[in-house]
Amino acid sequence: MGHPYEKLLAENKAWAKEQLEKDPAFFSRLSHIQTPEFLWIGCSDSRVPADKITGTQPGEIFVHRNIANLVVHTDINLLSVLEYAVVTLKVKHIIVCGHYGCGGIRAAMENHSMGIINKWLRNIKDIYHMHRTEIDACSSEEEKTNRLVELNVQEQIMNLAKTSIIQKAWKHEQRPHLHGWVYGLENGIIKPVCEMEPGAHIDPLYEYDNL
Ligand code: CO
Repeated sequence: MGHPYEKLLAENKAWAKEQLEKDPAFFSRLSHIQTPEFLWIGCSDSRVPADKITGTQPGEIFVHRNIANLVVHTDINLLSVLEYAVVTLKVKHIIVCGHYGCGGIRAAMENHSMGIINKWLRNIKDIYHMHRTEIDACSSEEEKTNRLVELNVQEQIMNLAKTSIIQKAWKHEQRPHLHGWVYGLENGIIKPVCEMEPGAHIDPLYEYDNL
């Protein structure tokens, strides 16, 4: 076993073999159709694997991950995933899952320039700015970061509700439900922090009336 990446390929062979032993139809069934009920928007952090921490199997959860689990309304990657999940896969639930101790959130609270990523983190700085009084009232740096982690998730749920994709599905199909969660790296537990039901109230400024 020369290179570390070769372990990944060996582990993959072992995994495929094990799946077939448990369920001989596993791959043939999944290769034809996927009908996930959930869209997961999470952080790219390697310590927060969506399927592992939720005990979901291949075929059950559609996943999009980026730094600090942001829903940016001009992000064509996120919007493509969102539209496909809502319109074609017809997911019933969308989960935005942040995590305590998020490096992206921490970086956005600091003042070091890091290149291109500055522009991505700017979205988080703006949320800090909006909630500055509340966050700065926290007693430690860790508490400040963790409160911003929660407020960020809440804001991303609002960002989903502001899209025409979600508003259209809410109006005509009474789905999907939106869930804001935060995962704890130190205990493995997910804490629900906010929720929006189909048709939930949003600022009328962001409401489309011709969907
Ligand atoms: Co993170």
